[in-house]
Amino acid sequence: MVNVLVVGSGGREHALGWKLSKSGRITNVFTAPGNGGTKNNVPIPVEDIDGLAEFAKKNDCFTVVGPEVPLSLGIVDKFQKMGLGIFGPTKAAAQLESSKIWAKQFLKKYGIPTAPFEVFDDAGAARDYVRSLDYDVVVKADGLAAGKGVIVCGDKNEAFEAIDTILVNRSFGSAGSRIIVEKRIDGTEASYIALSDGNVAIPMATSQDHKRIYDDDKGPNTGGMGAYSPTGVITPMLAEQIQHDIIDKTIESMKKEGITFRGFLYAGIMVHDGKPYVLEFNTRMGDPECQPILMRMDSDLFEYLEASSHGTLDMLPPISWKKQSAVCVVLASSGYPDSYQKNEKILGLDKIPESDAMVFHAGTRQENGDILTSGGRVLGVTALGDTLQDAISGAYLAVDKIEWKSKFYRKDIGKKGLRYL
Ligand code: GLY
Repeated sequence: MVNVLVVGSGGREHALGWKLSKSGRITNVFTAPGNGGTKNNVPIPVEDIDGLAEFAKKNDCFTVVGPEVPLSLGIVDKFQKMGLGIFGPTKAAAQLESSKIWAKQFLKKYGIPTAPFEVFDDAGAARDYVRSLDYDVVVKADGLAAGKGVIVCGDKNEAFEAIDTILVNRSFGSAGSRIIVEKRIDGTEASYIALSDGNVAIPMATSQDHKRIYDDDKGPNTGGMGAYSPTGVITPMLAEQIQHDIIDKTIESMKKEGITFRGFLYAGIMVHDGKPYVLEFNTRMGDPECQPILMRMDSDLFEYLEASSHGTLDMLPPISWKKQSAVCVVLASSGYPDSYQKNEKILGLDKIPESDAMVFHAGTRQENGDILTSGGRVLGVTALGDTLQDAISGAYLAVDKIEWKSKFYRKDIGKKGLRYL
């Protein structure tokens, strides 16, 4: 029996802790720093790697890292040096997410399908490049920018503005000291997440995120306003192609770079003319995708995360998934992804039994027995259903029972999946 320390404070980490706590091999699940819904919270920030290591050592924990920031700071390297069990990629492997330039150059070097691009640290040169093109572009900050460093441009003026925002005004700080200008590929986006131990990579269930703030995919990008699983966007044939041409090739090519990739490899895919292109990599589970994916997982998550960290995934059977669909509707505070109110009391959480839906917490905190809002994305209401439509209905029934003053959510989560049935 072991204890587990989940690092992070979002809906993803609540879902990871919930699923891990169902393992017969786990005594306690701790969460650092956690949120108003997670159990056994430990007040250590995700950047405090020394503090987390000390806690994990003292409490004999296997550690599961949720977000990208501690991975990019080398939490896995530190724990490994100390002989502590930990799940996730090393700092070198996490470069696939922590430097978009590193990732794009890697993709190009190994012939993994992605859009053509150029790298700039000079705004004038970037503008000249945009002027010379006869297609629209996407402008990306190199470093981590909490999901906001990617600007999809509809014309050249928007591209000039994006260059100014990232490179001149440094709206994302040093993450924007270099940028990528890449060809905008249109099509349908989906998330393909695999679990690797450095040798093999096994697919998680497919899913589709809803990144824009408003219905019908309008408005600015967010961290994700909802997700469903599985998605018909990724047909079995396309899944095979992504697994072979993108995931397996990435793991192999990382080895050629001298890097063993252990952890979740999340490929943000654009399907254009039936072909998959890598928009970006994340080296962790997606949030909110994690929530519907884990609701559908029948196998013991801990067994798989432990095997990933030991390099023994090939010893385990394929992951078993419920045939049902799952839908996660993110409840946010009005104003997100910009400024929003905090400290508003959330009502109705007690009206939703686990058999109807799981309410995974993100930006919440507890105070005197009340649950208050504390972040932009506040809750992920996640329901299972025999059909995608049933799961959508179940999630929105639960959503209606929850109230707070600035509650805001999309009304169309999962709708775009219905057209693939
Ligand atoms: N939902 C997108 C992400 O996790 O980055």
